[in-house]
Amino acid sequence: MSVFLDACRVRPTAYTPIWIMRQAGRYLPEYRKLRAQVDFVKLTRTPELAAEATLQPLRRYELDAGILFSDIMTPLQGMGIELEFEPGPIVRDPIRTDEQIDALPPLVPERDVPFVLEAVRLVRANAPRMTPLIGFAGAPFTLFCYLVCGRPSKEFAAARAFLYSHPASAVRLLTHLADAMAAYLRAQAHSGAQALMLFESWGGLLALKEYRRFALPAVQRTVAALRDLEVPIIYYANQGSALMQAVAELDVDVVGVDWRTSLAANRQILGASKAIQGNLDPAALFASPAELRVQADAVLADAGRAPGHIFNLGHGIWPDTDPDAVARLIDHVHERTARD
Ligand code: CP3
Repeated sequence: MSVFLDACRVRPTAYTPIWIMRQAGRYLPEYRKLRAQVDFVKLTRTPELAAEATLQPLRRYELDAGILFSDIMTPLQGMGIELEFEPGPIVRDPIRTDEQIDALPPLVPERDVPFVLEAVRLVRANAPRMTPLIGFAGAPFTLFCYLVCGRPSKEFAAARAFLYSHPASAVRLLTHLADAMAAYLRAQAHSGAQALMLFESWGGLLALKEYRRFALPAVQRTVAALRDLEVPIIYYANQGSALMQAVAELDVDVVGVDWRTSLAANRQILGASKAIQGNLDPAALFASPAELRVQADAVLADAGRAPGHIFNLGHGIWPDTDPDAVARLIDHVHERTARD
């Protein structure tokens, strides 16, 4: 077992594990070097290169988990959705009609995204220190946002309007995405992923009532289809503090939260059977070394001493972050939490 996987199971650990959302990416000079030669989509579709990008942060830092280098939109490309990254995903024909929803094929991972599964196998075979690998997918509502709007947005207005104007069609699309992501995550686990994470990056746009009506049943459908696997499931709810009562009903092992909310308060709501992941503000990595330690200690104090805390940022690391600040953060969390 690993410290990270034990923490996912709310078991006591020798120290608090840490990994960083978006740890494989543009803040690393070695990633920028790779990216200078190959475009992003080719990186995600070439198993050796996706594995290399996954392994880069694991070689540089004493991270307690790796996350597969890919994108939440990659499986949708496998389902025939045409898109480009600029650098956020741009969908050529946003989904707005029943005809488009009905024409969406199911996802057959071995056929549609074999390169992802091969990347998982390569990472597992080459991970330093046997670091466990997290496979991931977008949560259905977050994918729905990109598919309906067609591009990144602050409000995802067209997607949220669609929920009210075409609720039955919205549920059909969400259900289709839920089943596709269940198949996708299952295939990643079969290929060697030791934990599975669902990114609900835009769930926080919804009122609790709409979250309960649309987003929650869809992600619970994905989770339920995976519960026969011996793999912990992490659900990251960005800006989800107003939704936590509903998130607590999800049958997941770990809930990831952003920095706007208190770990202690969320642990109260989630209960002692779920682990919590987070939640340092990505901006805190720009503090002086002494202030970064103060900020990290505040997160640790907020998490408390009970088992089941996985240190992370509250959202993805920013591309202009100093890689040395990441090293200092990881070392500090490990040293500060070391237990005999
Ligand atoms: O290190 C890792 O976390 C693994 C790789 C990973 C990427 N995207 C690579 C990527 C993961 C886990 C994701 C998830 C993802 N993608 C999410 C959920 C997490 C979140 O941030 O809320 C979302 C919403 C997306 C959609 C997406 N893809 C956006 C908004 C962007 C552009 C902005 C950005 O943050 O870079 C992308 C492109 C993308 N995905 C890049 C990377 C490394 C940049 C592409 C490049 O190198 O040019």
